[in-house]
Amino acid sequence: MTRSSPLLEVKNLHVRFETLRGVLQAVNGVDLTIFPGQIVGLIGESGSGKSVTAKSILNVLSTPPGITDGEIWYRGRNLLELSAKEMSRLRGQSIAMVSQDPMSSLNPVFTVGEQLRDALLWADIVQNTTGEPSAFNLINRFTSAGRRRFRQAAAQVVEDLRQVELPAPHQQVKNYPQQLSGGMRQRVLTAMACAGEPDLIIADEPTTALDVTIQAQILMLLRELAQTRGVSILYISHDLGVVAQLCDRVAVMYAGEIVEEADVRDIFENPQHPYTEALIRATTMASEDDLVEIPGEVPNMLAPPKGCHFWPRCPKMVEQCANEKPRLAPVGQDHESKCGRVHGEWI
Ligand SMILES: Nc1ncnc2c1ncn2[C@@H]1O[C@H](COP(=O)(O)OP(=O)(O)OP(=O)(O)O)[C@@H](O)[C@H]1O
Ligand SMILES: [Mg+2]
Repeated sequence: MTRSSPLLEVKNLHVRFETLRGVLQAVNGVDLTIFPGQIVGLIGESGSGKSVTAKSILNVLSTPPGITDGEIWYRGRNLLELSAKEMSRLRGQSIAMVSQDPMSSLNPVFTVGEQLRDALLWADIVQNTTGEPSAFNLINRFTSAGRRRFRQAAAQVVEDLRQVELPAPHQQVKNYPQQLSGGMRQRVLTAMACAGEPDLIIADEPTTALDVTIQAQILMLLRELAQTRGVSILYISHDLGVVAQLCDRVAVMYAGEIVEEADVRDIFENPQHPYTEALIRATTMASEDDLVEIPGEVPNMLAPPKGCHFWPRCPKMVEQCANEKPRLAPVGQDHESKCGRVHGEWI
């Protein structure tokens, strides 16, 4: 892959939440880079801060104080400095999200055809208006331009559903989301995410609720999108197997930090952090229906351990691990690890 300039660069991201029990340190100094056309997997156990990182990129965190430090560079602009209006244009157009639960992202009272048509109309309005895009434009069928837009979008719906390989798209457009299977709904959501022709799709565990065969089909679809349209994908998962099938590069997240990052083959063939090793071991040992489990508990992020966050569960820990904070440092070509022992910072 040619290393042009990055499409997205997250730098030193810190996210905090005010909770009844104190301040929760959800994300602690995350750096993440995505190049055009690249598929990056963000992997880690439940609660490690994957979704919070994704929501920070889209600027949709609801609980204060939220992002307390860091920069998020996208096409030369720091997203954290954009106004709410500018950010909402970007979300409607350049950066799209596919979420874990297709049912809650689709509206049960409109047909899938109507919902995709409206997503296309909205993308069109965002692209063609300079001021604040207004939903009123979406329903303005009293002008000839409005009617033309409506007809064009309605015709495109079937074609777009065909491109995401939804079976019998002519019939499916008339159906409501609850009449579709989980895999079909995920295809509709993917088509909706593509409506604004985004450069970046953030997919937050989009296949978790699906069975293995359907999961593989959706992954192939995403890969095709990246290849044919040059879309970059940030793919969030707790499943290493899925990441291995899909991604070019992998960032492993533990307790709010990236602990290892490398090309996908390197991660599997030459893991350089004890947490990644444990994750790979647990994945290869678990049967298809088993939960992947690593002994010990995820740290409480209201009061994370001093030193390396993984030391209480780490089979390789030494005294320094509990007292000194390791840094993410190179351990090979384009390969970084946050283990003080591995990159020789201590011992
Ligand atoms: N709005 C919020 N208010 C308070 N705490 C939050 C909020 N959102 C997330 N958290 C906390 O931040 C931490 C990271 O959560 P996040 O949702 O990013 O985890 P995740 O890695 O996506 O996990 P999962 O695999 O279960 O989706 C967790 O401890 C979670 O409880
Ligand atoms: Mg999540």
